[in-house]
This record gives sequence, structure tokens and C-alpha cells, in this order.
Amino acid sequence: MGNSCRRPAKCAHVSSTNFTGSTESHSKSKQHSSTSRQSHSKTSSTSRHSHSKTKKDSTSSNHQPNFRSMNQYNTSISNNLKSFSLTDLKNVTKNFRSETLIGEGGFGFVFKGWIDENTFAPTKPGTGIVVAIKKLKKESFQGHKEWLAEVNYLGQLHHENLVKLIGYCAESENRLLVYEFLQKGSLENHLFRKGVQPIAWATRMNIAIDVARGLSYLHNLDPNVIYRDLKAANILLDSNFNAKLSDFGLARDGPTGDKTHVSTRVVGTQGYAAPEYVATGHLTPKSDVYCFGVVLLELLSGRRAMDDERAGFSDETLVDWAKPFLTDSRRVLRIMDTRLGGQYSKKEAQAAAALALQCLDKDPKIRPPMVDVLATLEQLHTSNTTPRRPLFGTESHGNKQSRHPQKTKEANTNYV
Ligand SMILES: Nc1ncnc2c1ncn2[C@@H]1O[C@H](COP(=O)(O)OP(=O)(O)OP(=O)(O)O)[C@@H](O)[C@H]1O
Ligand SMILES: [Mg+2]
Repeated sequence: MGNSCRRPAKCAHVSSTNFTGSTESHSKSKQHSSTSRQSHSKTSSTSRHSHSKTKKDSTSSNHQPNFRSMNQYNTSISNNLKSFSLTDLKNVTKNFRSETLIGEGGFGFVFKGWIDENTFAPTKPGTGIVVAIKKLKKESFQGHKEWLAEVNYLGQLHHENLVKLIGYCAESENRLLVYEFLQKGSLENHLFRKGVQPIAWATRMNIAIDVARGLSYLHNLDPNVIYRDLKAANILLDSNFNAKLSDFGLARDGPTGDKTHVSTRVVGTQGYAAPEYVATGHLTPKSDVYCFGVVLLELLSGRRAMDDERAGFSDETLVDWAKPFLTDSRRVLRIMDTRLGGQYSKKEAQAAAALALQCLDKDPKIRPPMVDVLATLEQLHTSNTTPRRPLFGTESHGNKQSRHPQKTKEANTNYV
């Protein structure tokens, strides 16, 4: 299994193929009337406040959101977000010209645009601050659902390890999202793309800590939020290699009361998704812990979660390949990325590998909660003061403080 394998098969989004065809459907659409989602996380700076919503499950066609009723739906958007017109977004991206294109994913193309730092008003390209603008592919009907989930979650959730959603556009059939721009793009590009400088060990550990902090924040909300699509492609890096979770299109509220799980159609990405979730559709925060274990393995090994070139072999997934090494203390360091050139703390690497093994336990009950994962990582990495940068060469160090603070108006989120 080499480092040059292709991107993991995307069988993930609501808009794409299922893993298993179907699983049982979610019990019922939830009604929260002005319920409060409180954060118990020490790491969180804000919590999710009074929202009123009816969330629909992706499994039943009866539960599809009605996107035709735009008046009703427009009132459902959080007041924290700026509403942009399509003309605004055309102007700031030079009419979505290819020179402003920065990426493409299942949802659609991502463009670079410019807005005023204080008012968020559109500005002439090249002036103001840079934002990333995601434009939903028109042919993707289920993409509307992901768009709405993104707006609903990121309109309310604010944390230094979650990407900031600045605004949106919902004009006739067009659906766009406007985010803070993360200068270094995705972790996937830095770990796996050929010709990119390898990320130094200390930076990899800091990225793991940032991701664990983001997930701990989500899991400690009340009701908790299951992110469901953790993978290297959805971890974005700022100029200082601070990591943020992006893409909340598949996020779900976790089980409440005495429920142990929520039942969903199986969506996620092959190679990352927890086996019991793929088998049953039963979703718990421990599904995210498994995904985190896979990302941790990717950081350690520099190998992709899923190696398409080994499809059909017993070590098709990174987990299958790595497990025999992880369970053998004498051979555990054989998983390490050779591009690190041996420049890492063996003690830290062994501890991180042991943690990955726990996160990847087949039994979700054995996996540690994210808050414990975070504590372990912080503990094993406290002594390290190395600045975040690639292994070789220099990088500019950005300000950790966001340049676009969210407006503090209370969210008004009546979900359709
Ligand atoms: N806020 C952002 N700042 C900078 N670059 C971004 C931002 N959001 C997305 N990108 C770039 O656009 C690319 C595509 O992102 P997108 O989330 O649409 O797809 P993906 O994560 O690669 O795949 P998937 O459809 O599975 O989520 C990313 O890899 C990244 O390089
Ligand atoms: Mg993504």
C-alpha cells in the first residue's frame, strides 16, 4: 500500500451511493421547540442557543424538506449569518471564473471571493478579505439537504476548531455557502498530494489535538452533535496549520434521553466509517471516535484511509493494513510515515498509535469518549513547543484569532 493511492471512494454523502443499500429508518422527525443546546465542554467558547426546529431524516421521502417554499424557508436561517444575493457572489468571484476556483467536492465547486472585513459586503476582487464560496451543483437534489444542515449547524455552532460559516445564498434554485478562507486548504492535500512538503511531527500532533477538540466540543453539546463525516478532506488548515472541521452536511443530533443511538441511512466515507454503523445504521458519538482513529492513523502513516489500488485485498483499508502493527509493540513504528525522515518522538508516536488502536476498537463501547482522547493527546504532547510548519522550509504564521467574528445576535432557527 503506497502513498500514491487514489482518493477514498466517495460513497458518503446523502447525495451519493449508500454503503449497504438501506438500513432502518430514523424513528421520527424531531421537534425541538426553543430547546437549549448547552455546551458542557471546557474548550468551547460559545454554545448553541435557543432554536426551534423540525429536523427531517434522510431516509424517508416523506421527510424531505420542502425547498420550493422559499419564503417559509428563508425565515429559518440563523440570524448569525449574512444573506448574500447571487449577484453579490458573482461579483466577488469574477462571475465564478476558473481563476477563482480553489477546489471541488461532492457538493460542488469552491471559489475564492472577496468581502469587506467588517460589514461582509461584497468588495472588488483583490480587496477586503478572502472567503471560500461553495456552489451547490444544481443537479444534486440531496445536496439541498446537506446545504440546509450546514446552514443550521454552522449558523449556531461557533468554536475555534470549526470552520466559520459567514453567510449563504438561496436565490431561486441556487444554493451557496460563504466561509472563512483557510489558507492551507485541506489536510488531505497536505498529507497525500505529491510534491507537497511533508508536515512535521509536532504539527501533525497539533492537528490531531485540534480535531479532537472540535469533536469534543460537538459531543459535549446538549443534545450532542455527531459529525459523521470526519476525514482528511474535511479538515481544513489555516496559515498556521490550525485545524478546523468543515462540512456539516451529514451532521446529526445524537441520541437523547435513554436512547443509545439514532438510526440513520448509512452515509459517510469508506475507509473511515465505523463498522457497526456501516452494518446497522446505528449512529452514536463513538462512530466519530472511530473516524478519528482513522485520521490519527493517516497522520502517523501518511497513508490514505482507503487504498483503491488494493480493492479486494484483505488490507484494502488503512485500518486493516495497520492493525497487525498496532497490536505488536515491537513493530508498531513500522506504520510511521517515511517522509518524516525519523524526525518524531518515538514515545509520542507509540502512545498515539496505542490511542488510535483504542479508537478503532470493533466494540464502540470500548472506544474512549472524545474528551478522553483529547486529554490523552494533550498530555502526551504538552512538552512539545515546536511551531507549526512543514518539515522543511518556512511558513508564514497567521493570527490564530479569526478575522471574521460571528455576529452575536441570538440565532433564530425555525427549521423547515
Ligand atoms: N473554507 C475553505 N477555505 C479554503 N479552501 C477550502 C475551503 N473549503 C473548501 N476548500 C477547498 O475546496 C476543496 C473542496 O472542498 P469540499 O468540501 O467541497 O470537498 P471535499 O471535502 O474535498 O470532498 P467532500 O465532497 O467529500 O466533502 C477542499 O479540498 C479545499 O481545498
Ligand atoms: Mg469537504
